[in-house]
Amino acid sequence: MRPTGNDGPTLGELLEFAHRTAADPGVLARLPRRPGERSWISLPAPGGAEAWVIGWPPGAETGWHDHGGSRGAFATASGLLRESSIAVELPTEGWRVLELADGVDRRRELSTGRGRAFGPHHVHQVVNPSRTEHAVSVHVYYPPLPLMRRYTRDGRVLRLTRTEQTQEW
Ligand SMILES: [Fe+2]
Repeated sequence: MRPTGNDGPTLGELLEFAHRTAADPGVLARLPRRPGERSWISLPAPGGAEAWVIGWPPGAETGWHDHGGSRGAFATASGLLRESSIAVELPTEGWRVLELADGVDRRRELSTGRGRAFGPHHVHQVVNPSRTEHAVSVHVYYPPLPLMRRYTRDGRVLRLTRTEQTQEW
């Protein structure tokens, strides 16, 4: 992947990396698969990015979170993931509770081979909605995640619950 100047990989390059890696059986075979448990391995990522392969047992979900100002992409390597996201750009700092307007919720299903990129203000949650099928996905972030903010959602109200300094998802 070619970094663009000093600004790191573009969204298109991050997404291309996620797709290419999600289609690489040699990479996916390294992921430990433990029934009922999440699993993950880190990957070397181009252009100074950070990448992970994540295994999702049935019903696993991230909860609402952002990526601390990093942009990124992910692609489903097997199974299906459902993403809920907020279609407006939210400030990353300076608030604890926000009331969202109507019509800003988005939902998309990412079946095997599908992926998406997202910008630095992206707030979402991702779930493996299957009751029976494990899912595997590839995630890449630039710059490497400095932190993640976690939120609870109560109807329209988004509430910051904590800031994590270490990579979890
Ligand atoms: Fe995320």
